[in-house]
Amino acid sequence: MSKTSPAVGGGTGPRLRAELDGIPTYKPGRPAAAGGPAAFKLSSNENPYPPLPGVMERVIATAGIFHRYPDLSCAGLTEELAGRFDVPLEHVATGTGSVGVAQQLVQATAGPGDEVIYAWRSFEAYPIITQISGAASVKVPLTGAEAHDLDAMADAVTDRTRLIFVCNPNNPTGTVVRRAELERFLDRVPGDVLVVLDEAYREFIRDAEVPDGTDLYRERPNVAVLRTFSKAYGLAGLRVGFAIAHEPVAAALRKTAVPFGVSQIAQDAAVASLRAETQLLERVEALVTERTRVVGGLAGQGWTVPETQANFVWLRLGERTLDFAAACEAAGVMVRPFAGEGVRVTIGETEANDLFLQAAEKFREEL
Ligand SMILES: Cc1ncc(COP(=O)(O)O)c(C=O)c1O
Repeated sequence: MSKTSPAVGGGTGPRLRAELDGIPTYKPGRPAAAGGPAAFKLSSNENPYPPLPGVMERVIATAGIFHRYPDLSCAGLTEELAGRFDVPLEHVATGTGSVGVAQQLVQATAGPGDEVIYAWRSFEAYPIITQISGAASVKVPLTGAEAHDLDAMADAVTDRTRLIFVCNPNNPTGTVVRRAELERFLDRVPGDVLVVLDEAYREFIRDAEVPDGTDLYRERPNVAVLRTFSKAYGLAGLRVGFAIAHEPVAAALRKTAVPFGVSQIAQDAAVASLRAETQLLERVEALVTERTRVVGGLAGQGWTVPETQANFVWLRLGERTLDFAAACEAAGVMVRPFAGEGVRVTIGETEANDLFLQAAEKFREEL
């Protein structure tokens, strides 16, 4: 042993990067407790429907070869997506959920000394993946209407800015940015700053004024679109998402990907889901109908609900947030509280939505 080596078992242990200090931990939505009063999980924006039979069959068939590594390049899925979106194969990059792809996008663009801009509150992974990269987060507060303040976000751009997330619809508020304001914003962002349109909930949008990010990407080399199979397509547990981006960005995503990160089961399930799109989108339509019912019910009870285009609703409850979440849990539904701010509630099965509406009504009456 050299003189400079610390003694085994002594010293301070492995040196970790200082950037990791104070990283907020990702809080997953709490599951319904086994044997507890809460039977329904409305805390993670999952799809309440079980896997489609055809998709399940595909998964079971592929499970028979899980002693083999998956296709590293996700060739079948990439080809399916390129055809579906009418984009070159080279513009599609897959990853372990869209949060995995989001992390790769940050890794590919930003490091110490750089800045990443996003609205706040928004998807809680943004601060985590930004801090891991060593870059600084620039959080731009939502407007009073719980929406992105795109003017303020454009004003926040500096020569250190490398990436901007626009979460459309925004998690957790459900609000959207519309075509004209988004285009105006994109016109203001320098071409060397990557704008990531996070469209995890795209399929739930019914507002025709909300642009499809894949249309905007076509004319703008600095725009990347993030999509997932976790929400509308119901594959949250399989971890597969993708980006559509121009060549240098998509190529950087291939470089930053964890090799073999997307399992063959996930790849094949995603392809099967794209081919079963009609059935899956019928389920999405049913959830959108439920969303209208829940929003209407809450408004009827006197709640202020921001207009949502996602599969969840947002109630700004401030100091009453945790009490409200506890009341919902006691009534049989787990919701997602953000202490001191508000509660996000996923649109689930009809019975779960009914229980939630009853809990919300009771809570209001007792105020
Ligand atoms: C806005 C947004 N983006 C991305 C994700 C990540 O989804 P996944 O990694 O399951 O694709 C989520 C999940 O909740 C989300 O809300």
